[in-house]
Amino acid sequence: MELDWKNLSFGYLKTDYNIRSYYRNGSWSEPELTSDETVSLHMAATCLHYGQEVFEGQKAFRGADGVIRIFRPEENAKRMQSSAAYLKMALPPVDLFVDMMKRVVKANERFVPPYGTGASLYIRPLLLGTSAQVGVNPSQEYLLLMFVTPVGPYYKEGFNPIKVMIDRDHDRAAPLGTGHVKVGGNYAASLTSGEIGHEKGYPCVLYLDAKEKKHIDECGGANFFGIRQGTYITPRSHSVLPSITNKSLMTLAEELGLKVEQRIVDYEELATFEEAGACGTAAVISPIGSIYDPSNDRTFVYGDGTKAGPNCEKLYHRLRAIQYGEEPDTYGWMVEVK
Ligand code: PLP
Ligand code: COI
Repeated sequence: MELDWKNLSFGYLKTDYNIRSYYRNGSWSEPELTSDETVSLHMAATCLHYGQEVFEGQKAFRGADGVIRIFRPEENAKRMQSSAAYLKMALPPVDLFVDMMKRVVKANERFVPPYGTGASLYIRPLLLGTSAQVGVNPSQEYLLLMFVTPVGPYYKEGFNPIKVMIDRDHDRAAPLGTGHVKVGGNYAASLTSGEIGHEKGYPCVLYLDAKEKKHIDECGGANFFGIRQGTYITPRSHSVLPSITNKSLMTLAEELGLKVEQRIVDYEELATFEEAGACGTAAVISPIGSIYDPSNDRTFVYGDGTKAGPNCEKLYHRLRAIQYGEEPDTYGWMVEVK
């Protein structure tokens, strides 16, 4: 394989196989591996018109010992179930989901980046409503599909701090809407602010709560955390996606002797954090160097704005060491692909 593993970006590269299971007449079909990169859909499929689509994101890592491991796939399975339940879709069973994930990784083993390159194999499960409806109703049939693609860092900054912009003019999710589930529509709703951010030189947009704009929610594709006086603080909000990375970091933060608070985080607290970061499967931990709020021209700077703080650094290294099999998997998070 002649891929330039160390310089992969976060994008789609063709691999050998994807895997599919179909839900029809109340049951899921035996998963099938295929090399077909396309999906054939009825033109009235609910995923096309009414956004009846949910997805997930996870990674597989080649460890120091050569073994391939997936990070907490059951958590993704459970989150896909909660997303599917909200959109009135059929729920893929956890065992089916995890089994398909292992199989699609195994079938594409040659695309799992070598240990030491810092790259990984990104896994993208999606669930689509496939049967024809014209009225706004749930589909009768569903397709669960998983593809993989080798990836490098989501933000080109890698572990260098990113610049973040607050967007008060657009919301990604309504206060009692779909922010807590991983539906495609949330990402469609974030494209306008994402583009505004990119044009102004900010790779990441931070959203405030949609109702009052007083509290911190999250970034378009990652949770937010701040660290102050030995405490890891992360927002609790109905419109934030429960991040598996963040959940894991809360565990590791306690292990490192930090206190952990998951609660409503006021906008004004941005001025009090010593460190801040964005975290997620794609983003891993992206330290935040500064946050700019165009509405009042304020900038919140963390450290000198160019270096990750000491706690971000420790959390990042501990998480990566578990994922790459360098340190004991104390919490049983890694699932081997045999
Ligand atoms: N928040 C949003 C909106 C996301 O899209 C993601 C990515 O999945 C996350 C947070 C991070 O979640 P996780 O750590 O489970 O990848
Ligand atoms: C992930 O981290 O897996 C995500 O789905 C975020 C997405 C914006 C790439």
